[in-house]
Amino acid sequence: MQTIRYGGDYNPEQWPEEVWHEDVRLMREAGVNLVSLGIFNWGVVEPAPGEYDWDGLDRIIALLHANGIGVDLGTPTSAPPSWLRRAHPEIRLVDADGRALASGSRHGVCPSHPVYAEACASIVEQLAARYGSHPAVRMWHLHNEYGWANVQCYCEASAAAFRGWLAEKYGDADRLNEAWGTAFWGLVYRSFDEVEAPAAAPPGVNPALQLDWRRFSVDAHIANYRMQRAIIARYSEAPATTNFMVPNCKDMDYFRWAPEVDVVSNNHYLIAERAEPEIELAMSADLTRAVAGGGPWMVMEHSTSAVNWQPRNIAKTPGQMRRNSLAHVARGADGLMFFQWRASRAGAEKFHSAMLPHGGTDTRVWRDVVALGSDLERLSPAVGAAVAAEVAVLWDWESWWALELEWRPSVELGFRERIEAYYGSLWRQHVTVDFAHPEADLGRYKAVVAPSSYLLTAEAAKNLRGYVEGGGHLLVSYFSGIVDEHDTVHPGGHAAVLRDVLGLWVEEFHPLREGARLALTSGATGRIWSEHVRLDGAEAVAAFADGPDAGRPAVTRHRVGAGTAWYVATALDDAVDDRAAGLRELLAAVLDGAGVERPAGVPDRVEHVRRGPLSFLINHSDQDATVPGLRGTDVLTGDAHEHGVPVPAGEVVILTD
Ligand code: GLA
Repeated sequence: MQTIRYGGDYNPEQWPEEVWHEDVRLMREAGVNLVSLGIFNWGVVEPAPGEYDWDGLDRIIALLHANGIGVDLGTPTSAPPSWLRRAHPEIRLVDADGRALASGSRHGVCPSHPVYAEACASIVEQLAARYGSHPAVRMWHLHNEYGWANVQCYCEASAAAFRGWLAEKYGDADRLNEAWGTAFWGLVYRSFDEVEAPAAAPPGVNPALQLDWRRFSVDAHIANYRMQRAIIARYSEAPATTNFMVPNCKDMDYFRWAPEVDVVSNNHYLIAERAEPEIELAMSADLTRAVAGGGPWMVMEHSTSAVNWQPRNIAKTPGQMRRNSLAHVARGADGLMFFQWRASRAGAEKFHSAMLPHGGTDTRVWRDVVALGSDLERLSPAVGAAVAAEVAVLWDWESWWALELEWRPSVELGFRERIEAYYGSLWRQHVTVDFAHPEADLGRYKAVVAPSSYLLTAEAAKNLRGYVEGGGHLLVSYFSGIVDEHDTVHPGGHAAVLRDVLGLWVEEFHPLREGARLALTSGATGRIWSEHVRLDGAEAVAAFADGPDAGRPAVTRHRVGAGTAWYVATALDDAVDDRAAGLRELLAAVLDGAGVERPAGVPDRVEHVRRGPLSFLINHSDQDATVPGLRGTDVLTGDAHEHGVPVPAGEVVILTD
């Protein structure tokens, strides 16, 4: 039976060799079975162009192997060595203001520059040839966080690559002009040579240009990955990955990335200052699972306690690291890795927590790391198992990009704002969701929620219509279905692309003033948004009781084929005040209509997820709880439960049937 992969980034080049022996002994004590090695060691293994020093890496790989610890071998291309940048200053990253960035950190180079690509190819070839058949190498870790600090480069090499990308996509300039609507302001191009990268410019840069620029920039990083992957494939059959940053990297479209990797891996760091950070963690895990096509994935990095880069680096409270870790496993993770194994003494990340903290083994963090390793050994039944979800939430990075370009009807229109409002409410109602791209097959879901689908292709709209006609229950929030993939308004009035499924269109937007609230006839309250909804088949379930659209529909329902489509024209929030939890109630109505069952009597902050044969119950509150109606055996303690399961404050219970 397979075990969960457990370990972290390991940077032995920062330590003398005698420390390595202690490391490996302690890794065994903690149950570590995989470490990511060599992610930032380019300047160590290739100290001068074409001169290699593999001795240290040879020895540590041998030592790990002798101790039964697998290696996830990094390619060090996210940390180009000083000699490369000195010899080729032209590879430096140029930001939107035209500044070429200096050295002294990692990343900082143009992802499209041919000189950088050549240097990457050369070091990857050396590495793959040397270690490709080494039995310790279980996995390849290409680069690190593609796009972390160099997602878009505005240098000439990058602009030239962009023009080539456009020529490939559009064939000729007329097609590009058509797609980009360049008759507006007469921004017509006679040839691709006239197109510039959208660096700092007067306001109002063509949104279609900006969207294609973002797509190109993702592809520039993917091209580097593909190049490395192809080299490695000549020497090794081990799977390859690169660590994603779901959902906190807006710039990388991970649905675009997903087909490239053999294993989806993700870095997630708790947004520790939040009141309920576990909800955003769950969202990250669910979205990562969607990126993995519904299958398993692994956490490549998270933290045992505080990080070092948030405004206030809040340490994890007792039990929080365990809850965080097991929540990832509940939601599909087959690997649980940390940044990093041993805390660094020098450099920029010395105040970042680690599996082995500066204080060594006589610390709470270390004891928790050992205990977690032992818990994970009992969780083999989870490995490879599917997570049960009957509801999907739509997510599209392109819609995120488009919504948050300049000159929208309100600065308060935020992609994450609405997604998190809906996701949070579902989480508190113990509904496990899958995320899904709007063009994905939705047929298996009882309900689909679209909190923020501003950019929605005609194809996606057709998909949603087919879903509802086939018996699905769809809930769409305001300012959805407005533009196509080029940020061009769909014809026929706002949201007209969804008119037949929603049974309405929108005549005019009426965004609210900052802080304003309006009332609905249902007693709920709304923020941010109001609009003039024109019914065309849908019925009004609630109307605006005041505000610019008083008396007009605020929440609607439309029966189509065998299904139902709901629409909501304002930001209904979860328990925004004592009177109304409008969003919670609306979601409950949609879920009831769709036949989505929720566990009764479970407190909001007790996370409840089903994965394969296991039920995960995670109590994030400081109150003891009992989950009624469940029975089974706790796989961690062996305790049998017949009539309800106690989950003490802060604890995790994992039941098998
Ligand atoms: C990122 C990087 C790591 C490290 C951590 C610190 O995820 O991939 O190398 O810098 O952040 O949180």
